[in-house]
Amino acid sequence: MSEKPQENTTHFGFRQIPAEEKVRHVADVFHSVAGKYDLMNDLMSGGVHRLWKRITIERSGVRPGQVVLDIAGGTGDLTRKFSRLVGPTGKVVLADINDSMLKVGRDKLINSGTAGNVEYIQANAEALPFADNTFDVITIAFGLRNVTDKDAALRSMQRVLKPGGKLMVLEFSKTQKHSTD
Ligand SMILES: C[S@@+](CC[C@H](N)C(=O)[O-])C[C@H]1O[C@@H](n2cnc3c(N)ncnc32)[C@H](O)[C@@H]1O
Repeated sequence: MSEKPQENTTHFGFRQIPAEEKVRHVADVFHSVAGKYDLMNDLMSGGVHRLWKRITIERSGVRPGQVVLDIAGGTGDLTRKFSRLVGPTGKVVLADINDSMLKVGRDKLINSGTAGNVEYIQANAEALPFADNTFDVITIAFGLRNVTDKDAALRSMQRVLKPGGKLMVLEFSKTQKHSTD
């Protein structure tokens, strides 16, 4: 029999824990791994995350002059590629709740010569600090699982996405079959 989740609890791995505890755990994890996140990501995924990111970029259809949000963007892999695609007339916002991840991302992008069309913003996906209808494309790659209130985050992303814009979520999950009967 599965345990019924209690109010104000959420999952962390396979455990059910109080929501505020998850926020603390997630922050601790990313503060401690920020400096070695890219290496760990390559080792743990066998480099496959690079392939998924390449497919995401191809399917995004991002064009010069567009405005892109990479939320939970961490060390900025997608941001760097979007920056080239939107060019000098466009803009990419690399946003993350964790200042350690954001700092590693900013240093990496600046050192790799990424253009000045990137803004770095510390923000929680659940309450994005942007005006309605701002972005042509929003990505959240391997970040939604870390967000405590996923519904709030998705509502927030929908609010700041332009009508007809594209939200792309990269995540590991089991697919569920829904019957239309
Ligand atoms: C697994 S990393 C993914 C980083 C990057 N998107 C990538 O694919 O390499 C997850 C990121 O989500 C961020 N994050 C966790 N909770 C968040 C939240 N509520 N709002 C914004 N970012 C969050 C973490 O700080 C971390 O940088």
